Amino acid sequence: MALKILSVVGARPNFMKVAAICEAIKGINSLGAGEQIHHVLVHTGQHYDTNMSDSFFNDLELPRPDLCLGVGSASHSVQTARIMERFESVVLNEQPHLVLVVGDVNSTAACALVAKKTWCRGDGGVKYFIPKLAHVEAGLRSFDRTMPEEINRIVTDSISDYLFTTEESANQNLLHEGIPENRIFFVGNVMIDTLLRHRSKAHESTILQDLQLADGREVKPYAILTLHRPANVDDKRVFCHMLDSFLDISKRMPVIFPAHPRTLKRIQDEDLGDYFVDHFVQGPEPWDWRVRIRLVPPLGYLDFLRLMSEARVVLTDSGGIQEETTILGVQCITLRDSTERPVTLEHGTNVLVGSKPENIIREFNRVSLRGQELTRSPFYWDGNAAKRIIKVLIDDFCPEWSSVMAESALESESKELTQN
Ligand code: UD1
Repeated sequence: MALKILSVVGARPNFMKVAAICEAIKGINSLGAGEQIHHVLVHTGQHYDTNMSDSFFNDLELPRPDLCLGVGSASHSVQTARIMERFESVVLNEQPHLVLVVGDVNSTAACALVAKKTWCRGDGGVKYFIPKLAHVEAGLRSFDRTMPEEINRIVTDSISDYLFTTEESANQNLLHEGIPENRIFFVGNVMIDTLLRHRSKAHESTILQDLQLADGREVKPYAILTLHRPANVDDKRVFCHMLDSFLDISKRMPVIFPAHPRTLKRIQDEDLGDYFVDHFVQGPEPWDWRVRIRLVPPLGYLDFLRLMSEARVVLTDSGGIQEETTILGVQCITLRDSTERPVTLEHGTNVLVGSKPENIIREFNRVSLRGQELTRSPFYWDGNAAKRIIKVLIDDFCPEWSSVMAESALESESKELTQN
């Protein structure tokens, strides 16, 4: 009988993580021994716009979800409750051996709770069981409990059976919280699996030409801005002070701002349009180009990867971008006071500045002169994290398949890696 895994995606940062898992499962199922893993992909619909969701399925060649829950936007509690209500029927119908959740969004915590509270009817209807729960990207902590993501991480980790980690700090955090060591698996970073796999394809993107950032082969210096955390955009005073500093930077190099829908809504609600020029709807005054922040819609995965790869500096409050810039060697100024990913500070190009304009400008002045830097990749950020995850699950659920895998690339790769 195939091992049945039900994976959950909901919001933008989930897609690239689950893409790597899908790829590893495809690898196992193509070994010639039939379908070893039956994979069911569920999309909660937390993100639903084409730009925030559909384009990622195309760019990442993700299989279409088997089930869409269509929960949409709402307050945190309502959104979480809707996901739980709809996901419970999915678990009851599908009866998976394992539910796999990634990251720290509301969909992650909501589906984790459902997985561990639902009794499934086993074969023949006599044996009841609760599905096992795997959390990919476990153990990250910002130690800031005002962040909804931190709550989602703590809740999910506390009830998971398999905690797959990306960096050493995560292992230590989990041990300090009393998670038994035999549940923690240091496997590396699935988001980096996807980045490495798509890097050459992203090179074909025309985004630099579309945004007039490249003249032939020559790329002009530019900065990228991403901003969506409530702490930065919900308080008008904080948001405006930050925008003042980005405007200042715009006078020195173009600042390209693919705006998240929640940020765009804040801009519209607070009437902050004067800070921006819509890149694709140019105003009558040509000087606008030089002294305004250039607003563009949220970009697809390949376009954003290409844009990020050539940027002089990335200014961001995202979590995943801190990791991606680490691998790309691009200077990253994180607009937060804490990070749950300290390895990006130790190994990467990341620096924390918070939201104060004078700190943002000071750091920009310092790093924008530096250009890209080749850094030492964090351990196991090598493109094989998803394979390690699947190997752990197969060894536990179906040890008899280990012989099938013995000859496979997966087995030889993981042996090689353990010896390093
Ligand atoms: C969510 C995640 C955050 C992640 C971010 C990446 C949580 C708690 N937060 O934040 O960790 O970094 O996604 O994008 O899960 N909206 C749309 N269209 C969409 C999606 C959202 O218009 O496709 C708007 C809606 O107005 C919505 C708002 O964005 O109210 C917030 O969306 P939501 O999914 O609740 O949280 P994010 O801020 O996107």
